[in-house]
Amino acid sequence: ALVAMRQLLDHAAEHGYGLPAFNINNMEQIRAIMLAADACDSPVILQASAGARNYTGEAFLRHMVEAAVETWPHIPIVLHQDHGASPAVCQRSIRSGFTSVMMDGSLREDMRTPASFEYNVRVTRRVVEMAHPVGVSVEGELGCLGSLETGQAGEEDGSGAEGTLGRDQLLTDPDQAADFVQATGVDALAIAIGTSHGAYKFSRRPTGDILAIDRIREIHARLPNTHLVMHGSSSVPQEWLDVIREHGGEIKETYGVPVEEIRKGIRYGVRKVNIDTDIRLAMTGAVRRLLSQKPDEFDPRKFFAAALTAASDLCRARFEAFGSAGQA
Ligand code: G3H
Ligand code: 13P
Ligand code: NA
Ligand code: ZN
Repeated sequence: ALVAMRQLLDHAAEHGYGLPAFNINNMEQIRAIMLAADACDSPVILQASAGARNYTGEAFLRHMVEAAVETWPHIPIVLHQDHGASPAVCQRSIRSGFTSVMMDGSLREDMRTPASFEYNVRVTRRVVEMAHPVGVSVEGELGCLGSLETGQAGEEDGSGAEGTLGRDQLLTDPDQAADFVQATGVDALAIAIGTSHGAYKFSRRPTGDILAIDRIREIHARLPNTHLVMHGSSSVPQEWLDVIREHGGEIKETYGVPVEEIRKGIRYGVRKVNIDTDIRLAMTGAVRRLLSQKPDEFDPRKFFAAALTAASDLCRARFEAFGSAGQA
């Protein structure tokens, strides 16, 4: 059944686990996530960005998620709007049947310019006022996602601030977080703790303690009833980078957030963990490998099936690592 995100995250908080939130753009990704969840009995958060809706079309996205609900009626599913750029975008998602929306007011509507605290509060509160009366959950964001290593938002094709950010912009301030939640009433809060979107998070292999764990702990202590969200949480599996490179791909050296660091974040209060890039890398590696091993293959089902299996294995590993397996 489709459920509100508040319900799933309340359960996760009560039982001390985290939920991966995977981005969806097509049928193969939705089936990959659902097959993994079914195999290990995990609840699911499916999230769609504005780019996903442009690619898939609103009706296709909605009906594919309805098909997932019909196929796996025993699994609780949240349909979440990722990085809503304005209250109008969130309103459209609510009308379309999303059970959760993110209003990302940390950036202006262009999704490039850091916004003022006052702007963020204003637009996010407006979304809470639209969403809560109809049972839809709301995620807000405070702080600018970006690498503590480089000061860059890191994202080439999604939301992210332009230019180099300072440490004070890169870490969410606990006092401000408390004021923000008080003023907006959000159910979940995305915090900046040193992660960034996309495949290029760190140029060197992380040695541990790459997240600002103390910030997570401080914010969680101030806001025990608000669910903390970690964006930019792909681990950028080196195995998949190798497969991609072995089969004609060119991806430069890069590292993501180790799963063990995410597990630490979950221990200190993170409940929702956003993952998009890892599924992209696994699917790309699987397609490249299949097509190079079988150069005469031209049935798309063959390479899409390989991509689906690769994505599904990755999802299952995250459900198990974050502790949501067995909780559906
Ligand atoms: O936050 C960015 C997500 O990875 C979604 O990416 O906007 O390319 O769909 P997208
Ligand atoms: P990654 O790019 O690390 O997968 O992060 C995705 C994300 O935060 C979507 O909102
Ligand atoms: Na932000
Ligand atoms: Zn994000």
